[in-house]
Amino acid sequence: MPIPTIAQKGPYPVEVEAGKSYYRCSCGRSKGQPFCDGSHAGTGLSPIKFEAAETKTIYLCGCKSSKSGVFCDGSHAKL
Ligand code: FES
Ligand code: FES
Repeated sequence: MPIPTIAQKGPYPVEVEAGKSYYRCSCGRSKGQPFCDGSHAGTGLSPIKFEAAETKTIYLCGCKSSKSGVFCDGSHAKL
């Protein structure tokens, strides 16, 4: 399994819109964190697509080690 790069040891707060789809960067290389910009090419990793259930601020994992999918679960504190 390819190992992602740590983009940031903490979450990215982002405002999302209900019903809209987003692609969260999983490789850590995107220059447009926390979203995918295509920089994962050749890494064996790919973005995680998710749809926002409601319009609100969410906290997306920046360290790419969360066990809760795209969301920060505090795992960055152990890095
Ligand atoms: Fe990855 Fe918090 S930023 S678990
Ligand atoms: Fe990281 Fe696409 S740039 S998953």
